[in-house]
Amino acid sequence: MASPHAARVLVASNRGPVSYTLRDDGELTSKRGGGGLVSGLSAIEGNAESLWVCAALGDGDRAAVRRGVAEDGVRMLDIDPEVHADAYNGIANSVLWFVHHMLYQTPLEPVFDAEFRRRWDAFRTYNRAFADALAAEAAEGAAVLVQDYHLCLVPGILRELRPDLRIAHFSHTPWAPPEYFRLLPDDIGAELLRGILGADRAGFLTQRWADAFTACCTAVLGGTGDTASTGGTTIAVHGLGADADFLRKRSHEPDVDERMAALRERIGGGTGEGPDGRRKTIVRVDRTELSKNIVRGLLAYRELLDTRPEWRGRVVHMAFAYPSRQDLAVYRDYMAEVERVADEINSRYATADWTPVALYLKDDFARSLGAYRLADVALVNPIRDGMNLVAKEVPVVTDHGCALVLSREAGAYEELGRDAITVNPYDVSATAAALHEALTLPDGERAERSERLAAAATALPPQRWFLDQLNALDPAAATG
Ligand code: F6P
Repeated sequence: MASPHAARVLVASNRGPVSYTLRDDGELTSKRGGGGLVSGLSAIEGNAESLWVCAALGDGDRAAVRRGVAEDGVRMLDIDPEVHADAYNGIANSVLWFVHHMLYQTPLEPVFDAEFRRRWDAFRTYNRAFADALAAEAAEGAAVLVQDYHLCLVPGILRELRPDLRIAHFSHTPWAPPEYFRLLPDDIGAELLRGILGADRAGFLTQRWADAFTACCTAVLGGTGDTASTGGTTIAVHGLGADADFLRKRSHEPDVDERMAALRERIGGGTGEGPDGRRKTIVRVDRTELSKNIVRGLLAYRELLDTRPEWRGRVVHMAFAYPSRQDLAVYRDYMAEVERVADEINSRYATADWTPVALYLKDDFARSLGAYRLADVALVNPIRDGMNLVAKEVPVVTDHGCALVLSREAGAYEELGRDAITVNPYDVSATAAALHEALTLPDGERAERSERLAAAATALPPQRWFLDQLNALDPAAATG
C-alpha cells in the first residue's frame, strides 16, 4: 500500500547522503557525504517528491532513526545490526566485491559452505527490508533507482510487491566475466542476475561491464541470444564524469591553499625541476581498497628509483591512502602492507633532505584537492575499477597540467585512454617505465594532454548522469 509520502522519485543505496555520530554527551552530529550520486541527485534538489532510502550504518545513524531525527528526503532503515553486518561485510564486501573485482586468491578461496549460506540468507533479509520500504513509500508508477551490488536482489523483490513501479538498477563496480562470475554457486549466481533483471533498466558505467553482465546472463540463465537471456530488461551504459563546477570552485578555497603550502614544504626543493623550483611529484589518492593496487604502485616507484638513479632526490611519491572497510581483516592487513612497503622504500633511499614516499592515511578532502593541483603525475593503477573518479578529477583541478598514468582495467580507460599513459596494472616494470615517461613529458605536451583529459572527464557531469537515467525510466519524473 502506498504511504502518505508517496514519493515519485526514489533512490536506494546502502550508504546514504548523510551520517550521524553519537558524541560522548549523547548529542548527535551529522555530516553530509560526497560522491557522484549525491551530486547527481542535486539535479532534482528541492523536488519534494523525492526520497533517498539508505541503511543506518553505525550507532549514530541508529540513534538518529530511533530519535526520529531525519533529514528531509532521506529515510534510513534501522536493520538489525547483525543482519546488516552479515549482508554488508559478509556478502557485499567479501563476496560480491571480490567477484566483480576478481580479487580472490583462488587456491584457498572462495569457500561456499554452510556459513556462506547463512550470510546469504541475511543478505536476502537486508534486500527485502529495502524493497519493503520502497514499496511502502513509492507513489503509483514512481521511478525507483536502486544502486549497486549491495541491493542486487531489490529489483526482483520490488517488482513482485509493486508491479506498477518503474525500476532501474545501477552497478558502480565492474562486472565479472562469466568464467569468474561462475565461481558463485549456480543457484546464487542465478538469483543475483534475476534480482537485477527484475528492473526495467540495468545500468553500467561502461560498455565493457554491460557486455560482461549480458554474457553472465547468457552463461548462467541460458536462452539463445542476448535478448532471451536478459528478458525484457534494457541494458544501458551511463558513464559518470567529474563535477567540474564544484571541483574548480572547491579547489580554490582557503583551506586548500593552506594544505598546499604544507605539501609544498613536504616536497621540498631538490634540483628545482618542477614548477616553483620544487621536486616533481607523483600523486595517488585512493580509499585503501584492495582493488586500487597501491602496493604495486609503490613497488613500481621503488623500481623507478632502483633502475633510474637520476630520479633519486628529484621526485616525491605522495600516496594518500585513506582507510576503508576496516571491519575486515584483509583490508587492515592490506593497509599494513602499504605502510610496510612505503617504510621500506624510505629506509632504503631517504637522505638528510629527501624522503621519497610521503604516505598520508587520514582522510582530508581539502588536502587531496591541494595534491591534485600540485601533481606532475597522477598514478591511477587499479587492478579493476568501475570508473575511477580520481583519474577524472585531477586533470580538472591541476594548476599546471598533470600527466596521467592509467590502468587499462579502470572504467575511465574507455574515455581517457587516448591521452593517458596506460599500463597493465600487474606489470610493475611497465608501470615504472610509465612513471618515467610521465615525469619526462615535455611541459607543453603535458598541458595539452591534460586539457584534453579534462574535457573528456567532464563530458558527463553527475547531474546529467542522473537525469539521463531518470528520463529513460520516467520522463515525467525527471522534469516534474
Ligand atoms: O566505487 C564503487 C562503490 O560501489 C561506490 O558506488 C560506493 O560508494 C562504494 O563502492 C561503496 O563503498 P563503502 O563500502 O565504503 O560504502
